[in-house]
Amino acid sequence: MTLKDKVALITGGSRGIGRAIAEAFARVGATVVICGRKLYSLEQVALDNERMSGSIVPIQCNVTRLEEMECMVETILQEQGRIDILVNNAALNVFSGSALELGEGEFDRTVEMNIKSVFRMTRLVAPSMCDHRAGAIINIAATAGLRPEPCNLLYSMTNAAILMMTRSYALELAPHGVRVNAIAPGLIQTEMSSHVWKDEYRLREHLARQPVRHVGQPEEVAEIALMLAGERASFVTGQTFAVDGGLMLT
Ligand SMILES: NC(=O)c1ccc[n+]([C@@H]2O[C@H](COP(=O)([O-])OP(=O)(O)OC[C@H]3O[C@@H](n4cnc5c(N)ncnc54)[C@H](OP(=O)(O)O)[C@@H]3O)[C@@H](O)[C@H]2O)c1
Repeated sequence: MTLKDKVALITGGSRGIGRAIAEAFARVGATVVICGRKLYSLEQVALDNERMSGSIVPIQCNVTRLEEMECMVETILQEQGRIDILVNNAALNVFSGSALELGEGEFDRTVEMNIKSVFRMTRLVAPSMCDHRAGAIINIAATAGLRPEPCNLLYSMTNAAILMMTRSYALELAPHGVRVNAIAPGLIQTEMSSHVWKDEYRLREHLARQPVRHVGQPEEVAEIALMLAGERASFVTGQTFAVDGGLMLT
């Protein structure tokens, strides 16, 4: 497996799943641009991975701000010449509570961050992929988008939308050489899900429902992203890969 001479852009690459994907891509030779809101944590990832065969390039960019996204994509295209792989990873889980208690503010914020950022990023990057008649887009969704969870309406709804965006883009972009797939992680041990895995009771309850009895690791998601990004997945598009320890089986 090699991504030598490939340029990847990963949103939310400073920690968790995005970081693990960035490191997996850089390990096999890619130039990986990672973005996030805090430059220092992005720079730390680049520093920690200086000895990789590829390289990690930090760019500060908030994916809810269109001008920053435009500027980032323009910079990458100017400096690297192309973007071969886009991973739409950054998202938030802003409110977990009863559906009837949700406010319009939380609704708008979650839609803006989880759905609109994927739409904008794809609109900015996919045209140049189509020009090169090659590209792979990987959208990180969640199993919550496949099956509703109690008190998680906004997260479930926005992740379901990402899965349908994945299939819709896949259909339209395949004739132009661009593949679009999604990964739906279950519980993965990151900052976002720490309220679950740090809570002994919730963790035990979760693992009792999950056939593979360990908490998923970011690297286990990165392996699937690596497979989808490379040439070996050349006949795969529009698919959703649940990386969930079998949670969706139960
Ligand atoms: N962890 C899980 O159990 C789990 C389960 C299912 C799906 N997922 C999905 O996996 C993806 C990654 O989750 P994670 O658990 O790795 O999250 P995480 O540990 O909270 O990391 C989120 C990353 O996104 C960046 N980010 C946040 N807001 C941003 C913004 N407005 N603009 C740019 N970057 C931003 C963060 O950096 P800054 O804070 O510096 O901006 C960070 O690098 C998400 O799509 C999530 O829905 C996670």
